Amino acid sequence: MVISTLGVMFFYQYEISSGKGGASFKVEPSVELSLADNNETVSWGAQVRYGIQVRSPVDGNSRYGEIDPKQVFLSVSFFPNATDSSDITHQKEKTRLANQSGLTLMGQGSCFSCHADENSISGPSFTEIASSYSNGKRNKQDLINSIRKGSEGEWGSMTMPANSEYSEEEAAKMVAYIISQGSCEHCWVYPGLEGVLKIITAPKNIETGLYLLTASYTSSNEERGKDTMVLKVE
Ligand code: HEC
Repeated sequence: MVISTLGVMFFYQYEISSGKGGASFKVEPSVELSLADNNETVSWGAQVRYGIQVRSPVDGNSRYGEIDPKQVFLSVSFFPNATDSSDITHQKEKTRLANQSGLTLMGQGSCFSCHADENSISGPSFTEIASSYSNGKRNKQDLINSIRKGSEGEWGSMTMPANSEYSEEEAAKMVAYIISQGSCEHCWVYPGLEGVLKIITAPKNIETGLYLLTASYTSSNEERGKDTMVLKVE
């Protein structure tokens, strides 16, 4: 009896793992964004503490330290004067958030230990890089070459080491991401499983607005999971 049960179990497992049993597993990671104070209305200038939990069928659970925090991002966009979340689900934003393969590649490397969206760490910020591109000082190929071959003397006294593991095409995707992120006025990206999101101070003539928060994780087998939340500012 015991033996035949085991036999059935073995057969059942074989069926699933070989994909013949018709059972399908959800492979994309599950991502859960939460705010420390659970409040979905915030004031101008507020600091909002957030955490991101990730469970991935291939990589594990962030609760047990099994998730690489370098592949976890909070992408943030602010929509001045929007009051209803239907105001912000427009196509442009969807495309921007879907088109983040450059960000995933950057998470695989150590880019974020020297670069950030708005603040210079040891390397220039994305905002600075994007404006050097838009004012014609650097072109895309310059930026691609710098990433792959390293760079010195363009921005200051620090040197960027070569990242020769990236192909030309991959470096181009990272450059596209840096330029689009750095030139987007009300967009921010924060790497890591937790952090503090700083709400801007009220811009002139703007009374209210919405923040769209998108937490995402890309697993080692390139599946992306995300969770979104809308915050109202007033
Ligand atoms: C050890 C720190 C460090 C790491 C890691 C690093 N960078 Fe840099 N990066 C710098 C510094 C410093 C500069 C400025 C170099 C200069 O003045 O020429 C720079 C410059 C750049 C520039 C502007 C280049 C130009 O030609 O104007 C881009 C784009 C860039 N980095 C992207 C990346 C990407 C993408 C990664 C990850 C694959 C990365 N960096 C990793 C430090 C770093």
